[in-house]
Parts: sequence; structure tokens; C-alpha cells
Amino acid sequence: ADNHQHRIVAVPGDGVGPEVYASACTVLDVLSSRFGFGIDIDEQLIGGAAIDATGNPLPDETVAACRDAKAVLLGAVGGPKWDAQPRELRPERGLLRIRSELGLYCNLRPIVTHPTLHRFSPVRPERLDGVNVMIVRELTGGIYFGEKRREGDVAEDVCRYTADEITRVTRQAGRLAMQRDRRIVQVDKSNVIETSRLWREVTERVIGEEFPEVSLEHLYVDAAAMHLLSKPASFDVMLTENLFGDILSDEASMLCGSMGLLPSASLADGDFGLYEPVHGSAPDIAGQGIANPYAMLLSIAMMLRLSLHETEAADALDSAITDCWSDGVLTLDLVPEGVGTEAVTEAVCRRLTGA
Ligand code: NAI
Ligand code: MG
Repeated sequence: ADNHQHRIVAVPGDGVGPEVYASACTVLDVLSSRFGFGIDIDEQLIGGAAIDATGNPLPDETVAACRDAKAVLLGAVGGPKWDAQPRELRPERGLLRIRSELGLYCNLRPIVTHPTLHRFSPVRPERLDGVNVMIVRELTGGIYFGEKRREGDVAEDVCRYTADEITRVTRQAGRLAMQRDRRIVQVDKSNVIETSRLWREVTERVIGEEFPEVSLEHLYVDAAAMHLLSKPASFDVMLTENLFGDILSDEASMLCGSMGLLPSASLADGDFGLYEPVHGSAPDIAGQGIANPYAMLLSIAMMLRLSLHETEAADALDSAITDCWSDGVLTLDLVPEGVGTEAVTEAVCRRLTGA
């Protein structure tokens, strides 16, 4: 098989999902002709769009198609139209299920600042210079998935991790660190929490044995929360468990300014991953052509780099985007004189083709 023919599944979803997905298609088209790879996109249903068509927020056909692909691209799901549905039939259910069905245990949120965007962050600009943190959050274990109990006024949530669960996400973090600055800070609360002690032991072993060139440090989560604001530029890869990662990644997103700028990836074993903007379906602005596509385009760059190994294309897209920022190509969520989705897409494509 041709190594440079990539089959992916796209699930555009609802609201601004299909709008930012359209931008992604245009940009992928330009990249594939410039860098000589083929991309075959199988569009499938998820969320409210899937409920309307089939009655199910995640049809079996969608899951089957995803299992067969190198990567999945997701727009966003949800909207007021489906809010009255019972829980099992809500669009957001499709999102949780696709993550668990595909075994996506490693969630990545890159936090990269840019001088043009410093003014949109509540953090002082001099602290934002050079920030480039990759947050690696374990996504399918820990307290969110542990046994839950309720007896009257007493409630219990179990936080459980196995060495295998920690090992596989640590390997992904090690692999990423090798492509970056080769430094991992593992965040826990090992002075009081037993699973945290296991995290320290296992990460020491995996990084020590399999990634000897990567330096590994440990930090308590309370200190990490402070350091993310006081010296964010000191981090390279931040590796942590599910609950701490949920909180720290939202905290870190404030370094960048807008939801419309944040990409994410969720990886399974091997190179398979699901890529999506962090934002939701933004029903308040859907259908107006003004959605910010940068989060989606940055998600595409992550897909090209991590799942498709089209590194040159990924680098080119990343720099086309940052060139746009430097040139002030910004959307309405950021500045009152901002431009629409298509104008951003065209600006990115122009920088990719040198036209
Ligand atoms: P949201 O992220 O959709 O919107 C929050 C605010 O940010 C809104 O004011 C919106 O206009 C703005 N915004 C978001 N993305 C934007 C973009 N690309 N460009 C410009 N502005 C943007 O979160 P919200 O309002 O809490 O949820 C709306 C719906 O989306 C709900 O049904 C929710 O369940 C769903 N949702 C879906 C997610 C997903 O598909 N991964 C994640 C979060 C929420
Ligand atoms: Mg969250």
C-alpha cells in the first residue's frame, strides 16, 4: 500500500463543527497537493446530526469506520435543539462513547502562546513569552471511572490506577518528549495519595528504561497549579492523571486567550488518534460564518504530525497559522474588527501556497 495515501474519518457534528470542518478540508486539499500525499476522507455522523438521522448519537457504522482509519477528525457536538433529550440520547453522549470505544487513553493539549495574542490572556505578557507546554492527561482511568457509592450522607469515589495504565500513557509522553525539549514534569500528590506513589514509581521506570535521553521531574499538583501561572515557560511536557489533567488543562488554556485557538488530540495505542478543537458547537454564533477555525486547523497539524507522519506538512501549517497571527488575521471572538471563517481559511492557504 502507498504509505502516503491516508484514510481518515471525519465526524463534523453540530453547530460550528461543520463550519470549521469545511475550513479543514480546504486546507488539507492545499497541503496534499503541495506535499504530495493523498487524503481520503470518510464522512460519518455523530452527535445531534446523528440523532436526527438515526436516533443514535453514535451509530455503529461510525464506530466501525473509525476503527478502520488512521485518524478521526471531530468538529463539535451538541446544541439547544437536543437539550431536552434524555441523557442517553444527548449528542454529548456520542462524544464520551467514541472516546471509550476507540480506547483513547492519552489526551493532549498543547498550550503555545504567541506575542500577538498575549493581550487576550489575563496573565502578564512577559510571563507568556516562549510558552510551549504539552499537557498529557490520562483519559480513561482514575477517579472519573472508579467505583462510586452513596449511602445517605456518605459518598465515595474510588481512584484506581494500574501500572499498565500508567505505563502506556507514559510511553506516549516519552515519545512526544523525544520530538520536543526532552523534559517531562509528572504532576501528582504523592505525599498523600497512594495512586500518585504508583505514578512516580512507574514513570521513573518507563522513562529511565525506554527514554534515557528524557529528563523526568515530579511536582505536586498544588505547586504545578501555581507554576503554570508564575512561570509557564519553564514547562515542556506535563504528564498527569485524569482529574488533575482536566483541571490543569483548563487553567493552562487561559494562557492562550480564546477557546477558538485550542486544539487537542486523544491517542490510542500506536499512531491512531482523534483530533478535535477544545471548544464546543457554539450555538450562539453557528450559521453566521464567523466561527474561529484556528483551533480546528491546529488540530489538523497535530493529526498530520502524530498520526499521519506528514511532518513537513504539519510544520508548514503551524507556521502558516502563526504567520497569520503575526499579520493580525484574527476573528471576531478576539477583536471587534475580526474576519470570518472563510477569510481566515484563505489567508492560511495563501501562506501555504506562497501565492
Ligand atoms: P462552546 O465552546 O460551544 O462555546 C463557549 C463560548 O465560546 C461561546 O460564546 C462561543 O460562541 C465561543 N466559541 C466557541 N468556539 C468558538 C469558535 N470556534 N469561534 C468563535 N467563538 C467560539 O461551549 P458551550 O457554549 O458551553 O457549549 C455549547 C454546546 O457545545 C453544548 O451543547 C455543549 O454540550 C457542547 N460542547 C461540545 C464539546 C465538544 O464537542 N467537544 C465541548 C464543549 C461543549
Ligand atoms: Mg474540563
